[in-house]
Amino acid sequence: MTSYSSPVTGYKKIAVIGANGMLASMLCDSVPKSVTLHRFDLPELDITDADQLNTTFAELKPDVVINCAAFTQVDACESQREMAFQVNGAGPGHLATVARNIGAVLVHVSTDFVFSGARTTPYVEDDMTEPISAYGESKLQGEQAILASGLSDYYIIRTSWLYGPGGPNFVETIIRLATEREELGIVTDQFGTPTYTGDLAAAIWRLISPITSYSSPVTQHQSQITAPYGIYHYSNSGVCSWYEFACAIVEQLRNDNASLKLRELKPITTAEYPLPAERPSYSVLSKEKYKQVTGDEISDWRYSLDRYFKNRS
Ligand SMILES: NC(=O)c1ccc[n+]([C@@H]2O[C@H](COP(=O)([O-])OP(=O)(O)OC[C@H]3O[C@@H](n4cnc5c(N)ncnc54)[C@H](OP(=O)(O)O)[C@@H]3O)[C@@H](O)[C@H]2O)c1
Repeated sequence: MTSYSSPVTGYKKIAVIGANGMLASMLCDSVPKSVTLHRFDLPELDITDADQLNTTFAELKPDVVINCAAFTQVDACESQREMAFQVNGAGPGHLATVARNIGAVLVHVSTDFVFSGARTTPYVEDDMTEPISAYGESKLQGEQAILASGLSDYYIIRTSWLYGPGGPNFVETIIRLATEREELGIVTDQFGTPTYTGDLAAAIWRLISPITSYSSPVTQHQSQITAPYGIYHYSNSGVCSWYEFACAIVEQLRNDNASLKLRELKPITTAEYPLPAERPSYSVLSKEKYKQVTGDEISDWRYSLDRYFKNRS
C-alpha cells in the first residue's frame, strides 16, 4: 500500500473540455461517483476564446478542469497551422490562466509527438522535446503556455496512439479496411505504444484520486496517493510498430470469426506511404514516474486491445 497525505483534498466539481471527443467520452463514462461532472465542447465553449473561458469558469468555479480539447488531425495541422496553434497552443494557456485565477487544478493531455523520435529508448518526462510536425509543435506550445502561465497546480499527461470507443482511430480504421480491401500496406518502421482510452481515463482519475477517493478498476488499488504536480507520461506498456499493431487487430477479428475481405497485411516503409506530416520513428514513453507515484502496474497493449475487443460489440 502506498500512503501519502493529499495536497488537494475536498474538491469534486470537475469540468471536462472537448467532452464529445474520444478520450473525454471515456472519462465521462468512467467518472467516479463522488464527482459532479460538467461537460463542455464546441460550439458552446471554445478554448481559443479567453473571455468566454473566464466568464464560464468564474461562474462555475470547478475544482478541476480536464482539457481533452485539441485539433487532433495531425496531417490537417500542416495546412491549417494557425488553427493548430490557436487550439493546441494558445487554448491551453488560456485555460491555465483561468485555472490559476479561480484556484482550480488543470489536467491537460499532450502527446508523444512533442519528441522527434530520433531515440531508441523510452522517453522520460524531462527529455528534450523536438517536434517534427505542426501538430507536435502546437501541442508543445500548449505545454509551454501552461508552464508560463504561473499556474503551479497542473498535470500534463503525454500519451500515444490512442484508441477507444467513439472516435476515429487506427483500430477502427483497420477493422473497416479489413472488410473493404484484400491487401493493406502498413508502416513497419515507426515504433510506439498503443493506448486504450479506458486505461488512460482510469490513469487520469487515479492521478487526481485524492480529490475523488477513486480507486482504479484496472488495478483494484485501494491505496491513497499524492501525485506531485507536473508532467507525466502514460501509455499502455510494451512496444510495437503500426504493422504489428495492425496484425494484432486482424488476429482479434479472425478470432472473432469476423467476415473479412483482407488476405494480406503487407509491411511497408514510411517512405512508401508519404503523408503531409512527418511522424516520429520511435515515440515510446517511459511510464516509470507514473508507476512510482501511483504504485500501479500498466497493462500491456495486447492485453488492453483484447479488452477493447471484448467490450466493443
Ligand atoms: N488520438 C490520439 O492518437 C492521441 C495521441 C496522443 C495524444 N492525444 C491527445 O489526447 C487528447 C484527446 O484526444 P482525442 O483523440 O480524444 O481527441 P478528439 O476525439 O479529436 O476530441 C477532441 C475534442 O475537442 C474538441 N475541440 C476542438 N477544438 C476545440 C476548441 N477550440 N474548443 C473546444 N473544444 C474543441 C473537438 O470538437 P470537434 O470534433 O467539433 O472539432 C473534439 O470534441 C488531445 O489532447 C490529443 O492531442 C491524442
